[in-house]
Amino acid sequence: MQKLNTSNFIQEKVGEIRSAVGSGIAINALSGGVDSSTVTMLGHRALGKQLRTVFIQNGIMRKDEPEQVAGYFKKLGVTVEIIDARKEFFDALKGITDPEAKREAITQTFYRNVFGRIVKESGARYLLQGTILTDVDETVAGIKRQHNVFEQLGIDPQEAFGYHILEPLIQLRKDGVRKLGKALGLPIALFKRIPFPGPALSARVIGEVTPERIETVRTATVIAEKLLKNTGAFQYMAILHNDRVTGMRDNKRDFGQQIEIRCWDSKDARTARPTKLPFKLLEKLASEIVRKVPGVVSVTYNITTKPPSTIEAV
Ligand code: XMP
Repeated sequence: MQKLNTSNFIQEKVGEIRSAVGSGIAINALSGGVDSSTVTMLGHRALGKQLRTVFIQNGIMRKDEPEQVAGYFKKLGVTVEIIDARKEFFDALKGITDPEAKREAITQTFYRNVFGRIVKESGARYLLQGTILTDVDETVAGIKRQHNVFEQLGIDPQEAFGYHILEPLIQLRKDGVRKLGKALGLPIALFKRIPFPGPALSARVIGEVTPERIETVRTATVIAEKLLKNTGAFQYMAILHNDRVTGMRDNKRDFGQQIEIRCWDSKDARTARPTKLPFKLLEKLASEIVRKVPGVVSVTYNITTKPPSTIEAV
Protein backbone atom coordinates (compact mmCIF):
# COMPACT_ATOMS: atom_id res chain seq x y z
CA MET A 1 0.00 0.00 0.00
CA GLN A 2 1.46 3.37 -1.01
CA LYS A 3 0.41 6.49 0.89
CA LEU A 4 -2.02 5.75 3.69
CA ASN A 5 -4.88 8.20 4.13
CA THR A 6 -5.95 7.30 7.65
CA SER A 7 -9.38 8.93 7.66
CA ASN A 8 -10.44 7.32 4.38
CA PHE A 9 -9.03 4.00 5.55
CA ILE A 10 -10.92 4.19 8.85
CA GLN A 11 -14.18 5.09 7.12
CA GLU A 12 -13.82 2.26 4.64
CA LYS A 13 -12.94 -0.39 7.26
CA VAL A 14 -15.62 0.75 9.71
CA GLY A 15 -18.14 0.28 6.88
CA GLU A 16 -16.82 -3.18 6.03
CA ILE A 17 -16.83 -4.37 9.64
CA ARG A 18 -20.37 -3.09 10.21
CA SER A 19 -21.75 -4.72 7.13
CA ALA A 20 -20.07 -8.05 7.92
CA VAL A 21 -21.21 -8.24 11.55
CA GLY A 22 -24.66 -6.65 11.04
CA SER A 23 -26.63 -6.71 14.28
CA GLY A 24 -24.66 -9.64 15.73
CA ILE A 25 -21.69 -9.54 18.03
CA ALA A 26 -17.99 -9.99 17.41
CA ILE A 27 -15.10 -11.00 19.62
CA ASN A 28 -11.85 -9.16 19.46
CA ALA A 29 -8.57 -10.61 20.63
CA LEU A 30 -6.38 -7.97 22.21
CA SER A 31 -2.76 -8.66 23.17
CA GLY A 32 -1.70 -5.04 23.60
CA GLY A 33 0.65 -5.06 20.63
CA VAL A 34 0.36 -2.28 18.05
CA ASP A 35 -1.66 -4.38 15.61
CA SER A 36 -4.24 -5.76 18.02
CA SER A 37 -4.54 -2.42 19.87
CA THR A 38 -5.25 -0.65 16.59
CA VAL A 39 -7.79 -3.23 15.51
CA THR A 40 -9.49 -2.94 18.91
CA MET A 41 -9.96 0.80 18.43
CA LEU A 42 -11.18 0.31 14.87
CA GLY A 43 -13.57 -2.44 15.97
CA HIS A 44 -14.97 -0.31 18.77
CA ARG A 45 -15.48 2.58 16.43
CA ALA A 46 -17.39 0.29 14.09
CA LEU A 47 -19.33 -1.84 16.56
CA GLY A 48 -19.38 -0.17 19.98
CA LYS A 49 -21.08 -2.51 22.44
CA GLN A 50 -21.47 -5.22 19.82
CA LEU A 51 -17.75 -5.92 20.24
CA ARG A 52 -16.43 -7.93 23.18
CA THR A 53 -12.70 -7.47 23.75
CA VAL A 54 -10.79 -10.28 25.43
CA PHE A 55 -7.20 -10.56 26.54
CA ILE A 56 -6.03 -14.16 26.75
CA GLN A 57 -3.69 -14.66 29.68
CA ASN A 58 -1.76 -17.51 28.14
CA GLY A 59 1.06 -17.48 30.70
CA ILE A 60 3.63 -16.54 28.06
CA MET A 61 3.14 -12.77 28.11
CA ARG A 62 5.57 -10.26 29.58
CA LYS A 63 5.53 -9.19 33.22
CA ASP A 64 2.19 -7.65 34.33
CA GLU A 65 1.14 -7.34 30.68
CA PRO A 66 -2.56 -8.31 30.93
CA GLU A 67 -3.30 -5.82 33.73
CA GLN A 68 -1.26 -3.06 32.10
CA VAL A 69 -2.99 -3.43 28.75
CA ALA A 70 -6.45 -3.63 30.32
CA GLY A 71 -5.56 -0.45 32.25
CA TYR A 72 -4.62 1.47 29.10
CA PHE A 73 -7.87 0.49 27.40
CA LYS A 74 -10.00 1.29 30.42
CA LYS A 75 -8.78 4.88 30.05
CA LEU A 76 -9.89 4.77 26.41
CA GLY A 77 -13.36 3.60 27.44
CA VAL A 78 -12.87 0.00 26.30
CA THR A 79 -13.57 -2.81 28.76
CA VAL A 80 -11.14 -5.69 28.44
CA GLU A 81 -11.98 -9.10 29.84
CA ILE A 82 -8.92 -11.08 30.95
CA ILE A 83 -9.36 -14.82 30.40
CA ASP A 84 -7.05 -17.16 32.25
CA ALA A 85 -5.90 -19.91 29.89
CA ARG A 86 -2.43 -20.51 31.35
CA LYS A 87 -2.90 -24.19 32.02
CA GLU A 88 -4.24 -24.89 28.53
CA PHE A 89 -1.23 -23.25 26.87
CA PHE A 90 1.41 -24.86 29.06
CA ASP A 91 -0.25 -28.26 28.65
CA ALA A 92 -0.25 -27.82 24.86
CA LEU A 93 3.41 -26.79 24.82
CA LYS A 94 4.63 -29.61 27.05
CA GLY A 95 7.46 -31.61 25.53
CA ILE A 96 7.54 -29.67 22.23
CA THR A 97 10.92 -28.40 21.04
CA ASP A 98 10.49 -27.96 17.28
CA PRO A 99 9.84 -24.27 16.43
CA GLU A 100 7.04 -24.86 13.93
CA ALA A 101 5.38 -27.48 16.16
CA LYS A 102 5.47 -24.94 18.99
CA ARG A 103 3.84 -22.30 16.78
CA GLU A 104 1.21 -24.81 15.70
CA ALA A 105 0.42 -25.77 19.31
CA ILE A 106 -0.12 -22.11 20.16
CA THR A 107 -2.26 -21.51 17.08
CA GLN A 108 -4.50 -24.48 17.86
CA THR A 109 -4.83 -23.56 21.52
CA PHE A 110 -5.76 -19.97 20.70
CA TYR A 111 -8.11 -20.53 17.83
CA ARG A 112 -9.63 -23.97 18.35
CA ASN A 113 -9.73 -24.27 22.13
CA VAL A 114 -9.83 -20.81 23.67
CA PHE A 115 -11.52 -18.63 21.04
CA GLY A 116 -13.60 -21.59 19.90
CA ARG A 117 -15.06 -21.81 23.38
CA ILE A 118 -15.51 -18.05 23.89
CA VAL A 119 -17.13 -17.58 20.51
CA LYS A 120 -19.50 -20.51 21.11
CA GLU A 121 -20.49 -19.31 24.58
CA SER A 122 -21.07 -15.74 23.42
CA GLY A 123 -22.95 -16.57 20.23
CA ALA A 124 -20.51 -14.44 18.19
CA ARG A 125 -19.83 -15.36 14.60
CA TYR A 126 -16.80 -13.17 14.04
CA LEU A 127 -13.35 -12.81 15.47
CA LEU A 128 -11.69 -9.49 14.71
CA GLN A 129 -7.91 -9.61 14.63
CA GLY A 130 -4.90 -7.54 13.62
CA THR A 131 -3.11 -9.68 11.04
CA ILE A 132 -0.79 -7.51 8.91
CA LEU A 133 0.89 -7.99 5.55
CA THR A 134 4.28 -8.99 7.02
CA ASP A 135 2.60 -11.89 8.88
CA VAL A 136 1.14 -13.15 5.60
CA ASP A 137 4.38 -12.70 3.60
CA GLU A 138 6.50 -14.83 5.89
CA THR A 139 3.89 -17.52 6.31
CA VAL A 140 3.26 -17.83 2.59
CA ALA A 141 7.00 -17.85 1.91
CA GLY A 142 7.24 -20.78 4.35
CA ILE A 143 9.70 -18.96 6.61
CA LYS A 144 7.58 -18.90 9.73
CA ARG A 145 4.03 -19.95 10.32
CA GLN A 146 2.70 -16.77 11.91
CA HIS A 147 0.11 -17.58 14.52
CA ASN A 148 -2.69 -15.61 12.89
CA VAL A 149 -2.60 -16.58 9.21
CA PHE A 150 -5.14 -19.05 7.79
CA GLU A 151 -6.87 -18.23 4.52
CA GLN A 152 -3.60 -17.71 2.66
CA LEU A 153 -2.69 -21.27 3.67
CA GLY A 154 -5.97 -22.63 2.38
CA ILE A 155 -7.47 -22.93 5.88
CA ASP A 156 -11.06 -21.75 6.20
CA PRO A 157 -11.49 -20.56 9.81
CA GLN A 158 -15.25 -21.13 9.62
CA GLU A 159 -14.66 -24.77 8.79
CA ALA A 160 -11.66 -25.28 11.06
CA PHE A 161 -12.81 -23.36 14.13
CA GLY A 162 -16.48 -22.48 13.63
CA TYR A 163 -16.24 -18.70 13.15
CA HIS A 164 -15.19 -16.09 10.58
CA ILE A 165 -12.10 -13.96 11.00
CA LEU A 166 -12.11 -10.28 10.02
CA GLU A 167 -8.68 -8.77 9.29
CA PRO A 168 -9.02 -5.06 8.52
CA LEU A 169 -5.25 -4.38 8.72
CA ILE A 170 -4.21 -7.03 6.25
CA GLN A 171 -3.01 -4.48 3.64
CA LEU A 172 -0.76 -2.63 6.08
CA ARG A 173 2.75 -3.00 7.43
CA LYS A 174 3.92 -1.92 10.85
CA ASP A 175 4.60 1.72 9.94
CA GLY A 176 1.08 2.06 8.49
CA VAL A 177 -0.49 0.43 11.53
CA ARG A 178 1.27 2.88 13.87
CA LYS A 179 -0.08 5.81 11.83
CA LEU A 180 -3.57 4.36 11.94
CA GLY A 181 -3.36 3.62 15.68
CA LYS A 182 -2.41 7.22 16.34
CA ALA A 183 -5.30 8.48 14.20
CA LEU A 184 -7.68 6.24 16.16
CA GLY A 185 -6.64 7.84 19.46
CA LEU A 186 -4.23 5.30 20.91
CA PRO A 187 -1.77 6.82 23.39
CA ILE A 188 1.87 6.99 22.25
CA ALA A 189 2.80 4.19 24.68
CA LEU A 190 0.60 1.89 22.59
CA PHE A 191 1.06 3.06 19.00
CA LYS A 192 4.83 3.31 19.44
CA ARG A 193 5.05 0.03 21.35
CA ILE A 194 7.74 -2.27 20.02
CA PRO A 195 6.38 -5.23 18.08
CA PHE A 196 5.73 -8.38 20.10
CA PRO A 197 4.88 -11.69 18.43
CA GLY A 198 1.63 -13.62 18.79
CA PRO A 199 3.42 -16.67 20.21
CA ALA A 200 4.75 -14.21 22.82
CA LEU A 201 7.70 -15.28 24.97
CA SER A 202 7.53 -18.80 23.58
CA ALA A 203 9.06 -17.33 20.38
CA ARG A 204 12.01 -16.46 22.62
CA VAL A 205 12.55 -19.78 24.34
CA ILE A 206 14.64 -22.21 22.33
CA GLY A 207 13.68 -25.75 23.27
CA GLU A 208 10.79 -26.73 25.56
CA VAL A 209 8.51 -24.01 26.90
CA THR A 210 7.85 -24.55 30.60
CA PRO A 211 6.57 -22.10 33.23
CA GLU A 212 10.08 -21.99 34.75
CA ARG A 213 11.84 -21.28 31.45
CA ILE A 214 9.26 -18.60 30.61
CA GLU A 215 9.92 -17.00 33.99
CA THR A 216 13.65 -16.87 33.16
CA VAL A 217 13.12 -15.17 29.80
CA ARG A 218 10.44 -12.90 31.29
CA THR A 219 12.85 -11.60 33.95
CA ALA A 220 15.57 -11.04 31.33
CA THR A 221 13.01 -9.27 29.11
CA VAL A 222 12.25 -6.72 31.84
CA ILE A 223 15.96 -5.82 31.95
CA ALA A 224 16.43 -5.80 28.16
CA GLU A 225 13.36 -3.59 27.63
CA LYS A 226 14.38 -1.20 30.42
CA LEU A 227 17.94 -0.74 29.14
CA LEU A 228 17.13 -0.63 25.41
CA LYS A 229 13.97 1.50 25.36
CA ASN A 230 15.83 4.74 24.59
CA THR A 231 17.92 3.37 21.72
CA GLY A 232 15.32 4.20 19.05
CA ALA A 233 15.57 0.59 17.84
CA PHE A 234 12.65 -1.05 16.00
CA GLN A 235 12.53 -4.08 18.30
CA TYR A 236 14.62 -5.65 21.06
CA MET A 237 14.40 -8.81 23.08
CA ALA A 238 15.97 -11.42 25.30
CA ILE A 239 16.12 -15.05 24.16
CA LEU A 240 16.72 -18.10 26.33
CA HIS A 241 18.99 -20.68 24.74
CA ASN A 242 18.60 -24.39 25.20
CA ASP A 243 22.22 -25.38 25.64
CA ARG A 244 24.08 -24.79 28.87
CA VAL A 245 27.59 -23.44 29.21
CA THR A 246 30.16 -23.67 31.92
CA GLY A 247 30.36 -20.59 34.07
CA MET A 248 31.43 -19.88 37.61
CA ARG A 249 29.80 -18.30 40.58
CA ASP A 250 31.35 -17.84 44.05
CA ASN A 251 34.49 -19.62 42.82
CA LYS A 252 32.48 -22.73 41.97
CA ARG A 253 31.64 -24.26 38.63
CA ASP A 254 28.14 -23.30 37.53
CA PHE A 255 26.84 -25.07 34.42
CA GLY A 256 24.29 -22.42 33.60
CA GLN A 257 21.92 -20.95 31.04
CA GLN A 258 22.55 -18.46 28.25
CA ILE A 259 20.58 -15.38 27.31
CA GLU A 260 20.96 -13.83 23.88
CA ILE A 261 20.07 -10.17 23.37
CA ARG A 262 18.81 -9.01 19.99
CA CYS A 263 18.20 -5.36 19.12
CA TRP A 264 17.07 -4.49 15.59
CA ASP A 265 16.99 -1.47 13.33
CA SER A 266 14.22 -1.93 10.79
CA LYS A 267 11.38 -0.10 9.12
CA ASP A 268 8.89 -2.85 8.53
CA ALA A 269 10.45 -6.09 9.89
CA ARG A 270 11.05 -7.48 6.40
CA THR A 271 14.76 -6.81 6.67
CA ALA A 272 16.67 -5.73 9.75
CA ARG A 273 20.14 -4.90 10.99
CA PRO A 274 21.50 -5.23 14.50
CA THR A 275 21.63 -1.85 16.26
CA LYS A 276 25.17 -0.62 16.85
CA LEU A 277 24.82 -0.44 20.61
CA PRO A 278 27.55 1.22 22.68
CA PHE A 279 29.76 -1.40 24.30
CA LYS A 280 29.09 0.13 27.74
CA LEU A 281 25.39 -0.58 27.29
CA LEU A 282 26.10 -4.17 26.29
CA GLU A 283 28.22 -4.60 29.41
CA LYS A 284 25.42 -3.17 31.53
CA LEU A 285 22.94 -5.62 30.00
CA ALA A 286 25.26 -8.54 30.73
CA SER A 287 26.00 -7.60 34.32
CA GLU A 288 22.37 -6.88 35.22
CA ILE A 289 21.10 -10.07 33.60
CA VAL A 290 23.62 -12.38 35.28
CA ARG A 291 22.93 -10.68 38.61
CA LYS A 292 19.15 -10.70 38.44
CA VAL A 293 18.19 -13.73 36.38
CA PRO A 294 18.66 -16.93 38.37
CA GLY A 295 20.73 -19.59 36.63
CA VAL A 296 22.13 -17.42 33.83
CA VAL A 297 25.91 -17.36 33.40
CA SER A 298 26.30 -16.06 29.84
CA VAL A 299 24.86 -13.15 27.84
CA THR A 300 25.51 -12.67 24.12
CA TYR A 301 24.53 -10.03 21.55
CA ASN A 302 23.36 -11.04 18.07
CA ILE A 303 25.26 -9.31 15.26
CA THR A 304 23.56 -11.01 12.30
CA THR A 305 21.29 -9.23 9.83
CA LYS A 306 17.84 -10.39 8.69
CA PRO A 307 18.16 -12.19 6.31
CA PRO A 308 19.54 -14.76 6.92
CA SER A 309 18.52 -14.37 10.57
CA THR A 310 14.89 -13.65 11.47
CA ILE A 311 13.84 -11.18 14.15
CA GLU A 312 12.49 -13.75 16.62
CA ALA A 313 14.50 -16.87 17.43
CA VAL A 314 11.69 -19.41 17.03
P1 XMP B 1 10.47 -12.65 12.19
O1 XMP B 1 10.92 -13.35 13.44
O2 XMP B 1 9.68 -13.54 11.31
O3 XMP B 1 9.48 -11.53 12.68
O4 XMP B 1 11.60 -11.96 11.46
C1 XMP B 1 8.98 -10.47 11.89
C2 XMP B 1 8.10 -9.62 12.78
O5 XMP B 1 6.91 -10.35 13.11
C3 XMP B 1 6.82 -10.59 14.49
N1 XMP B 1 6.35 -11.98 14.63
C4 XMP B 1 5.07 -12.32 14.76
N2 XMP B 1 3.96 -11.56 14.84
N3 XMP B 1 2.65 -13.50 15.00
C5 XMP B 1 2.76 -12.16 14.98
O6 XMP B 1 1.74 -11.47 15.09
C6 XMP B 1 3.69 -14.35 14.92
O7 XMP B 1 3.56 -15.56 14.94
C7 XMP B 1 4.97 -13.70 14.79
N4 XMP B 1 6.22 -14.19 14.67
C8 XMP B 1 7.06 -13.11 14.57
C9 XMP B 1 8.21 -10.37 15.06
O8 XMP B 1 8.18 -9.98 16.43
C10 XMP B 1 8.74 -9.29 14.13
O9 XMP B 1 8.33 -7.99 14.51
